[in-house]
Amino acid sequence: MEKLTPQNPETQSADIITGNIAQLKALFPELITESADGTTVNIDILKQLIGDKTVTDVEEKYGLNWHGKRRARQLALTPSTGTLRPCPEDSVDWDTTQNLMIEGDNLEVLKLLQKSYAGKVKLIYIDPPYNTGKDFVYPDNFQDNIKNYLELTGQIEGGQKISSNTEASGRFHTDWLNMIYPRLTLARNLLRSDGVIAVHIDENEYPNLEKLLNEILGEENNLGTVVWDKRNPKGEVVGVGQQHELISIYCKNKDAFAANANLSRKKENAEAMLNKAASLIKTAGTVNDEVKAFYKKWLKERKNELSGGELAYSEIDENGDVYRPVSMAAPDKPETRSHRPLIHPTTGKNCPVPAKGWRYPDKTMDDLLSRGKILFGVDETTQPTQKYLLRENIRENFPSLLYFGGSGDALDIPFENPKPLKVGALVVDAASSEADIVLDFFAGSGTTGHAVMAQNAVDGGKRRYILVQLPEPLDPENKDQKVAADYCDSLHKPRNIAELTKERLRRAAAKIEAENSSWHGDTGFRVFKLDSTNIRAWEPDRDNLATSLFDATEHLKSDRTEQDILFELLLKLGLDLTVPMETKVIAGKTVYSIGAGVLMVCLADTIASADVEVLSTGIVAWHAELAPVGDTQLVFRDSAFSDDAAKANCTAILQQHGLINVRSL
Ligand SMILES: C[S@@+](CC[C@H](N)C(=O)[O-])C[C@H]1O[C@@H](n2cnc3c(N)ncnc32)[C@H](O)[C@@H]1O
Repeated sequence: MEKLTPQNPETQSADIITGNIAQLKALFPELITESADGTTVNIDILKQLIGDKTVTDVEEKYGLNWHGKRRARQLALTPSTGTLRPCPEDSVDWDTTQNLMIEGDNLEVLKLLQKSYAGKVKLIYIDPPYNTGKDFVYPDNFQDNIKNYLELTGQIEGGQKISSNTEASGRFHTDWLNMIYPRLTLARNLLRSDGVIAVHIDENEYPNLEKLLNEILGEENNLGTVVWDKRNPKGEVVGVGQQHELISIYCKNKDAFAANANLSRKKENAEAMLNKAASLIKTAGTVNDEVKAFYKKWLKERKNELSGGELAYSEIDENGDVYRPVSMAAPDKPETRSHRPLIHPTTGKNCPVPAKGWRYPDKTMDDLLSRGKILFGVDETTQPTQKYLLRENIRENFPSLLYFGGSGDALDIPFENPKPLKVGALVVDAASSEADIVLDFFAGSGTTGHAVMAQNAVDGGKRRYILVQLPEPLDPENKDQKVAADYCDSLHKPRNIAELTKERLRRAAAKIEAENSSWHGDTGFRVFKLDSTNIRAWEPDRDNLATSLFDATEHLKSDRTEQDILFELLLKLGLDLTVPMETKVIAGKTVYSIGAGVLMVCLADTIASADVEVLSTGIVAWHAELAPVGDTQLVFRDSAFSDDAAKANCTAILQQHGLINVRSL
């Protein structure tokens, strides 16, 4: 029985200050910083988070500061004036797929996804521009970022052209930090509490990225940095020929993360080791000393190929199981550890107890003993160890060093420097499983989408991907972009990078299906495109106010479809963009049921007084059939009702039947 001492937290009253700091930090990690007196709250950030406009640029706090940081934070807090328009004609398996491919500037897209996907994403895996001096860094616009986006991507006339961020610009790091900071801030909100973010980077911005991630996610949530040895040093450099890139990995909340999983990978050679042991035993017909010696020799011959963790599995037991002995000595806190001796099974005498006690409590030690998981020496003089079976420990911690020298597997898509599929699949496997959502908002050629499908085919998972890629124009007159531009021409598609992403996803799906004929996972994707909102803004033509007033009676833009408006509603109401949707024609009008009746929408252009009763009672009957759990929202087009009486009558009939959340657009 554990004795409670004055040091136990249970015997102390609550430390309210520590609790308050922890709560604030969990909500807004960037609020807590260091000052000369210790931990402090950054009042400027707090003011900004609650919309106080009196904040200045003066920030004399510990942390990474640069010119424009406050404005960049403000940018993340400003709501988007855009929407995501569905594009079924570009999609694959529109009706059934759960994957999303979104074309747009990721800052706006991340804002638009906030309601529907906050706290839902398990893994964010990104490969942003490294700021090498050759890649472009998206120039956000504080006034009208949607217009800026449409101009930059050539969808409307005007604006500056996309150009690379050069060291000569005088704002080299500043521009990159201003770009990445608001995006990472918004991305954090989308992560589940046990979620992980993995960011590819190289030596140019790694120091800044780490500081930024410490601020946005909290230093304590740093899971470590992976050094990816690409086996090929960069040529023609002054100084060290960098041969590696880095992957910074953080989680949203280390406690929540550790409670559910770890960052692990399959031991690369475990299967070969198990197969070797099994074949030696099969040939010998038994497990004898010769088999054990042969197995050890086989391992020794492969000591350069196998990892240290694999080589440790050097023993075979009487059942033919490959195992390794592991010390059970406690690493710390001797006073709380069990010191109960283990009794040797043949001599009946006490075996030595580690100086700091056992790492497990008595109950676990008894359990290990009863399951034959404790190894004793020939007599009581050796300290017993724990028996780890290889087949039960196929996975190991993700290592800090990753060796992979191959190129990307973009399936002949002309995209410069795609990340290798193998590296992507390793990260996806390490940090996600089952039906988790994986998000990549710098999708490039779509390696993350490919890796998600490939990993699902390997382990039967149902992970879903959300990719975001800018339709970055490809200019056939630019020698670096000509091949990709011509490729788009050959596909009869617009010349931009998002077309490359979609083509890679189609090709990857076909390849995975061909190679895994018995696997029938999701290889489709729904395409959405960023655009200005479907809701008309009040922008009167001063010379023609009468027409402007008349036009304003219709709030929805005339060039938008019912589907456009429907999906904007999903985003505004926080519903998943792949939520099941059904339609029914009632009184000649199309009515949508979204999420089995959670939302019911009729966007017909006209609803005459004579139609109101049939339409409303029809909706009531369908709602009763669907029997959704919880409240239902009903939405109509405001301008559709022939007059106020028709609108009031419709509302009254619905409310009489308990449908009280009735709105119009
Ligand atoms: C380094 S590449 C990613 C490569 C990708 N990991 C692959 O394996 O193909 C970065 C990508 O982010 C895109 N990008 C840059 N700024 C963006 C923005 N503001 N919104 C969306 N995509 C952006 C670029 O067009 C580029 O394709």
